[in-house]
Amino acid sequence: MSSPMDLYEQLTAQGLAVRHIKAQKGNKAEVESAVQLLLRMKEDYKLLTGQDYQAGRPPTHTEDDDSGPAEDDEDDQVNPWNVSTSSAKGVDYDKLIVRFGSCKIEQELVDRIARVTGKTPHHFLRRGIFFSHRDMHQILDAYESRKSFYLYTGRGPSSGAMHVGHLIPFLFTKWLQDVFDVPLVVQMTDDEKYLWKDLSLEDCHRYTLENARDIIACGFDPDKTFIFSDLDYMGASPSFYRNVVKVQKHVTFNQVKGIFGFTDSDCIGKISFPAIQAAPSFSNSFPQIFGDRNDVQCLIPCAIDQDPYFRMTRDVAPRIGYLKPALLHSTFFPALQGAQTKMSASDANSSIFLTDTAKQIKNKVNKHAFSGGKDTVEEHRKLGGNPDVDVSFMYLTFFLEDDEQLEKIRQERCASHRRTEEVFDRDASAHDRGASGETQASDRRDRATVHDPAQTTLQLLEPSEERTLTVFCSCVITLC
Ligand code: TYM
Repeated sequence: MSSPMDLYEQLTAQGLAVRHIKAQKGNKAEVESAVQLLLRMKEDYKLLTGQDYQAGRPPTHTEDDDSGPAEDDEDDQVNPWNVSTSSAKGVDYDKLIVRFGSCKIEQELVDRIARVTGKTPHHFLRRGIFFSHRDMHQILDAYESRKSFYLYTGRGPSSGAMHVGHLIPFLFTKWLQDVFDVPLVVQMTDDEKYLWKDLSLEDCHRYTLENARDIIACGFDPDKTFIFSDLDYMGASPSFYRNVVKVQKHVTFNQVKGIFGFTDSDCIGKISFPAIQAAPSFSNSFPQIFGDRNDVQCLIPCAIDQDPYFRMTRDVAPRIGYLKPALLHSTFFPALQGAQTKMSASDANSSIFLTDTAKQIKNKVNKHAFSGGKDTVEEHRKLGGNPDVDVSFMYLTFFLEDDEQLEKIRQERCASHRRTEEVFDRDASAHDRGASGETQASDRRDRATVHDPAQTTLQLLEPSEERTLTVFCSCVITLC
């Protein structure tokens, strides 16, 4: 699917191609087919943006999107399908807050969470990894007046293995469940992945079961957690489907085009899918947990790429008599090659998967991890490093919980002009919880088992003693 800017650029290129063919005096059929393609693209552009294509004038903010500002600007692209920026420091998150119309997580909010829960805020909050929110104060107001809320997050199972970036929202959700002691629903959008990827329904469903093991192994409260596959739950829950239909009735094609950039050539499944991701935001989609109550507020932790779905959901909620869900947004765990893109399952070399062996992890980090912009180790030593763009150091900000130790590594990293990997090597024994270069991370991660894959909804089982994440993180830190 193309964004308005992508389509504008493709149109510009096609305009040039037509001119070129004409200048070369190409045969009539060739000219005709290039012109027809240009005209069709202009129609798509008009449908997508509500504007006529004009060479040299990129699209402005789309008129039909009344749920929030357009997704992409010249530098940063952030949407559910693509995250990219030209800056080595990563996406400009302050700019994104303005563009998406969300609120920055200020120190005052972090302090309030600490006060209300009586717990030290998670390091993702202390370090600004969760950086933006919608209506979090409302959740805390409700909680203080003894009204409960519930958590909702999800995963689109596009492969058997999740990567480390996917764990960021799940880890944080686990912490939120622990400190607030609230129910959690986890949506596995196997239907979404079938619609978007070249995968069979059977594969998508199988990936749901595989990925659920990694999610379960994060250690959620088995009595308060419901993990479900869309392919199973949609058919099994009339309440859920009723909410899907309500959302579908109140969002127009123009609105989803404006928010997600769908075009006329996208299949109708994609166009109606956002309603399915919206439905878990309403408590009466889960009568087995909340009875017929539709007034239990929902809090959604996710990376900010998922925000378009929930801008749409928040826009439609009051129109169908429901509360708007609140959100907590995280930054992106960067690709090995640098923070210009997020770690993504579609590029195996950009990612560390939970099924990678320790040896594979070591190789990937050594071969691909961007370490501060200097071409050689010698140059690096001479000129010093820059933790702002050093991927290995960025990974530590996500995973090394000890603030003092992190600061020490940062200072050493600058002062001694050593690569972060070298600093890690020296400190490895401090973190080594048994990772060996030859051992399969997957052998040791001891995924939780799902007893009966045929059951219609996934039952949460006891998490293993040795948690996937602990093992995995120690592996990354040790081997970096
Ligand atoms: P998916 O499978 O793309 O991603 C799952 C969760 O991981 C987040 N994420 C990341 N976080 C940090 N760094 C990264 N590099 C990174 N890559 C992905 C995503 O934001 C997401 O929170 N359509 C969704 C599934 C879904 C969902 C939800 C997600 C359904 N309902 C509610 C969040 C909340 C998807 O395909 O996610």
